Amino acid sequence: MDDRDIRNTLGNFCTGVVIATGFVDGKPAGFAAQSFLSLSLDPALVGLSPAKTSTSWPLLRESGSFCINILSSHQKPVCDRFAQSGVDKFEGLEWQSGVTGSPVLADVLAYIDCELVAEHDAGDHTIAVGHIKELKVCKSEGLPLLFFKGAYGAFSVS
Ligand SMILES: Cc1cc2nc3c(=O)[nH]c(=O)nc-3n(C[C@H](O)[C@H](O)[C@H](O)COP(=O)(O)O)c2cc1C
Repeated sequence: MDDRDIRNTLGNFCTGVVIATGFVDGKPAGFAAQSFLSLSLDPALVGLSPAKTSTSWPLLRESGSFCINILSSHQKPVCDRFAQSGVDKFEGLEWQSGVTGSPVLADVLAYIDCELVAEHDAGDHTIAVGHIKELKVCKSEGLPLLFFKGAYGAFSVS
């Protein structure tokens, strides 16, 4: 079993795509992720798995909060932008502050703004746990951006 086997097999699990954002030292930060998961209703907890190589996650950690922005089907360009490292990802992008101060991006399906309450080690990633402070469905009729076997697509009802 090598890295390729793991990627090829786990790529069969279709996910949505989120942008995890934060605001620290007067600047917004964020990165694209598929590792978002719902964890608990009571208390209201969600999870996210940042790579230890992420340059944005330490900024979100420092801010003590993060906002999960669930991308709409037409937001692949936003995903592409936030999947890069070391660029100004927010240039020309519309957003407003959530209750924690973390950016809520324009046009997302929904957002979940959280306080960071725990972070667990997990190999070359960590598992960050967020306590939900505010959440909203922004587009009740919208469709999600999906990620499957390394490609993007949209959901259709059968
Ligand atoms: C569809 C998709 C899913 C991703 N999922 C994750 C993820 O769950 N965790 C993570 O740390 N990086 C994930 N990435 C990679 C980061 O977005 C990428 O490494 C980014 O450049 C990190 O930026 P940063 O250095 O500013 O943190 C994903 C990328 C894509 C395109």
